[in-house]
Amino acid sequence: MPNIIVTTREGEERQVAADEGLSLMEVIRDAGFDELLALCGGCCSCATCHVKVDPAFAALLPPISEDESDLLDSSDHRDENSRLSCQVNMTAALEGLRVTIAAED
Ligand code: FES
Repeated sequence: MPNIIVTTREGEERQVAADEGLSLMEVIRDAGFDELLALCGGCCSCATCHVKVDPAFAALLPPISEDESDLLDSSDHRDENSRLSCQVNMTAALEGLRVTIAAED
């Protein structure tokens, strides 16, 4: 089970054990980070699961789909490290992944 490090908007860091097969959004939400709203439940239509991923892990992530990119464009806080966490599935390769919950729009 890979471990990831989640940083909140306030800068608090916590290690979380992530079940493979869950989405990154589900892992963060299930660990009790209420500020990740994930309002649409993971169907790529709300952008409230926006996170910033440590660039060291960028190459290990699935490519951004057109739908994900369009939704991220609706955020004022998008940058090159932005991903919708519901679109990233947890795999063993993501051991040590560091993500920060993006500022709220
Ligand atoms: S949970 Fe809505 S887009 Fe990810």
